[in-house]
Amino acid sequence: MRTHYCGQIRPEHIGQTVTLCGWVDRRRDHGGVIFLDLRDRSGIVQIVSDPVRTPDSYSMAESLRNEYVVAITGRVTQRPEDSLNPRLPTGEVEVYADRIEILNAVRKQLPFQVSTTETETVREELRLRYRYLDIRRERMSSNLKLRHELIKTIRRYLEDGEGFMEVETPILTKSTPEGARDYLVPSRVNLSEWYALPQSPQLFKQILMIAGVDRYYQIARCFRDEDLRADRQPEFTQLDMEMSFMSQDEIMDLNERLSCHILKTLKGIDLPRPFPRLTYTEAMDRYGSDKPDTRYGLELVDVSDVVQGCGFKVFNDAVSQGGIVKILPIPGGNDLISNVRIKPGGDLFKEAAEAGAKGLAYIRVRDNGEIDTIGAIKDNLSEAQKQTILERTQAQAGHLLLFGAGDRATVNKTLDRLRQCLGRELNLIDADQINLLWVTDFPLFEWNADEKRLEAAHNPFSAPHPDDLNDLKTARSQAYDLVFNGFEAAGGSVRIHQPEIQARVFELIGLSDEEARDKFGFFLEAFEYGAPPHGGIAYGIDRWVMLLAGEDSIRDAIAFPKTQQARCLLTDAPSGVDPKQLKELQVASTFKPKK
Ligand code: AMO
Repeated sequence: MRTHYCGQIRPEHIGQTVTLCGWVDRRRDHGGVIFLDLRDRSGIVQIVSDPVRTPDSYSMAESLRNEYVVAITGRVTQRPEDSLNPRLPTGEVEVYADRIEILNAVRKQLPFQVSTTETETVREELRLRYRYLDIRRERMSSNLKLRHELIKTIRRYLEDGEGFMEVETPILTKSTPEGARDYLVPSRVNLSEWYALPQSPQLFKQILMIAGVDRYYQIARCFRDEDLRADRQPEFTQLDMEMSFMSQDEIMDLNERLSCHILKTLKGIDLPRPFPRLTYTEAMDRYGSDKPDTRYGLELVDVSDVVQGCGFKVFNDAVSQGGIVKILPIPGGNDLISNVRIKPGGDLFKEAAEAGAKGLAYIRVRDNGEIDTIGAIKDNLSEAQKQTILERTQAQAGHLLLFGAGDRATVNKTLDRLRQCLGRELNLIDADQINLLWVTDFPLFEWNADEKRLEAAHNPFSAPHPDDLNDLKTARSQAYDLVFNGFEAAGGSVRIHQPEIQARVFELIGLSDEEARDKFGFFLEAFEYGAPPHGGIAYGIDRWVMLLAGEDSIRDAIAFPKTQQARCLLTDAPSGVDPKQLKELQVASTFKPKK
């Protein structure tokens, strides 16, 4: 049907007759001369029709409207000097249309203009509802191309360069312990029994190691019924990997090489190796986060020891109850951030409150070096304490010091949130910079305060640090996360391969032998038949695309994403089903809609 793609036409084609197919991006009538922008997947080229030079196509050109589907045959010509378009790769040429055939018309009013101007004005709900029109546009089509290039680059690298083999694992399966709620599918042939959709291929990939596959990867779809955020989807895609006979350092090294290769191939960026590494403890101390964005400073400073025993009850109680007092020092913040913003009702106060903080104490260092504080700190910290705080935070004239006081988790969460807000507000982030780092030595267990029990921080198959085997409760694990500009872009661990250690971990998370057998019996049994030492990692492909494309939402990295309410606006899923289907499955809903 066609000889070329629109975006391929160049001066070297001048004089040739070409046939192009695509959509009418825009039609302009310049008093007797009609200009069409013809668009296909590759880009846009200008088509010209006028009654003198192209009489056969002119009346057809007049009848075209935006988004009509057409086939156009014409001669490639040099554009006149005054109409060159340096913004288009095809901007030096145009095609004089000898023949225009309408392959399909647009029969309804377009919900929004497909041909984009620079600023996005179309509501996201409308974009998702008419996703096929949205994907015709430059932004989404280039994001999907980037996604395709990313996956292609990964496949080539892992298969051709590193000997990885792709193995598919089941979608209808048993629950996998990644910590989210499962999506369940009822079985018609085994009534009253359910499949779970995989939260990840974790158990299967470990079994593949026992099966001798040695280096497995998969571009794997995962399903997690959890609360959605800008960087989370209920179904998402992982690059999932597992390898045998490799140490943690070897696994991390291979993944650094892969990450560098991706950035070089897709962005032309050379990242220095090895990547920086922070232990979990260091990351939490310095940034209050296990996925810190280290493109900017604003590091936190612990002053618990300085304020311990002071007369300010909030600080004193925090420390005496096992919590901490920490400071976010903001150079120049004294002028930039008013008291109104820090006090109840202010935007920064609200941010802190959403993280669980009850208030925000502060110290301002005035331009003359004097310090200014709210009453409670002023009256209850000694001069020596204030001086130590200034020294430790390296505060100078103009600094604003924001305090967090309370239990460790809340203080870190609060100051991390404020640090991120202020990093953005004060333009401390270089948007072109790419920052990849490892966070290592996560704790093996976390305390689940609601259920009053330990739970596996990563998953219950991560191996404890070899130096910490004597006390697993407080042990570090051999788990590692790859952090990309403040987002968790990948995570993995070296796995437990000795059944005795696995049994101790299950015991500590309160899983009885019987429960463990019931949930993971098939998996534990496999370990009795010769499991090699192994470990792995999984990358969030959608997050990588979002970050590489410079998008703020993961939805812009996915062709057909779900909304925050886990709905697909295009198909209107989820939806009710035919009662016959439910009867067959012997499933009934107990849901009673509110009147
Ligand atoms: P984890 O749960 O850390 O590890 O997931 C790996 C990576 O997947 C991405 N990710 C998500 N992306 C979008 N939406 C979500 N809801 C979502 N949840 C996770 C993140 C994350 O770093 N089986 C282990 C991996 C292993 O140990 O090998 C696992 O799934 O980028």
